[in-house]
Amino acid sequence: MTEPMSHLRCITCDARYDAREIRYRCDCGDLLEVRHDLTRLTRACGDLKERFERRLGSRAVPYGSGVWRYHEMILPDLPAEDVITCGEGNTTLYHTPLLSRQFDTENLHLKHEGENPTLSFKDRGMTAGVSWARHLGATHVACASTGDTSAAMAAYAAQVDGMQAVVFLPRNKVTAEQLSQPIAAGAMTLAIDTDFDGCMRLVQEVCSRHNIYLLNSMNSFRVEGQKAIGIEACQQLQWRVPDWFVIPVGNAGNISALGKGLSEAHALGLIGSMPRIAGVQVSAADPFYRSYQTGFEERVTVTAGPTLASAIRIGDPVSHDKAARVVDRYAGVVETVTEEELMDAKARADRSGVAVCPNSGVALAGLRKLRASGTIGAKETVVVIMTAHGMKFSGVGVAYHTAATELTPEHPNPPIEVDADADAIARVIGV
Ligand code: F0G
Repeated sequence: MTEPMSHLRCITCDARYDAREIRYRCDCGDLLEVRHDLTRLTRACGDLKERFERRLGSRAVPYGSGVWRYHEMILPDLPAEDVITCGEGNTTLYHTPLLSRQFDTENLHLKHEGENPTLSFKDRGMTAGVSWARHLGATHVACASTGDTSAAMAAYAAQVDGMQAVVFLPRNKVTAEQLSQPIAAGAMTLAIDTDFDGCMRLVQEVCSRHNIYLLNSMNSFRVEGQKAIGIEACQQLQWRVPDWFVIPVGNAGNISALGKGLSEAHALGLIGSMPRIAGVQVSAADPFYRSYQTGFEERVTVTAGPTLASAIRIGDPVSHDKAARVVDRYAGVVETVTEEELMDAKARADRSGVAVCPNSGVALAGLRKLRASGTIGAKETVVVIMTAHGMKFSGVGVAYHTAATELTPEHPNPPIEVDADADAIARVIGV
């Protein structure tokens, strides 16, 4: 049998494990990552860029997917016919004069991951995670979630005969739209009287005691799929590297994946330079920002408070160590923003015709702050990751525009109640 292309490696002590071993942490306690033999990959595949360009726009399964187009970089040992895909990825990179004006950034691009099948970026990680779970013969998969991971896991697991999904949700802390997704897809949906961090502790305990495969982003195979966001954004820019990626941070899996994907793309010669990365948190839940302020000397955890950016209400990010390395490696910065700032930034994107979620609003508000401080220049090329679709959080949007929150909206646009009368309507329109 040929030597596998990938194995698991501890990010701290470098211990090595077989990729087929079910484990989420090193014996030393730290996180693992999937390491690919990039030299062998290059030798085996030849010109990867040419291969990825050829697959662009293909309808072939799975290569038409915006994750599996990069199959050789994602899970090279997984046969293409074993992939569980919903055609994820291929999301729009919005770049319009109105957006540039709204955010005072000439070369602004919004990578809209809300256009994925379950309306969030989580589909990219889940196509890899569930495919690998099936490859290993898992019958039960589980995750803790603030609503989007669970929606994605449920949808992908539903496509596997005999696979049962179990989702651990903090009771009353996910939106109705998010809750509707795992229920509809047949996942066993647990509403637990705790917060996300409590669910995260419980799911790890239950999975380690029983034969259940854990699909949170501490599962390194999820990260492999997720890392395609940055690679795809660079391909959409004709392999030019933006000066900045800006990304919201919750459990810190996505920023870790972004960094890993770009490093590998650089090592493989797909991109010629490295961007900078800005992670943004919301002030109600900003432990990563606080750790950053100590130069990552100290790992801060908090009890996350209520926020309209409910998907990132996380006080103890599991992937903290990986994310801190990414910030260091990419000359990164970490920002924190308020509820008002995130909602005003979301409203600006929405007003430009790109329906984004409050969590994406956090990243956009971070961009505004970093522009105001001059950290990001007006002419620099910036890609901001929109992590989910606004429709998953419609209640938040309506409440903001109807002034039903405690915030004062910058540009409220509430519905106007009017009589069922053509003249009355014309008067309202002003014609
Ligand atoms: N944006 C959205 C819409 C999310 O759902 C999440 C995380 C993030 C940003 C932050 O990404 O955790 O990788 O730093 N949602 C997880 C979930 C926690 O359970 O759906 P991260």
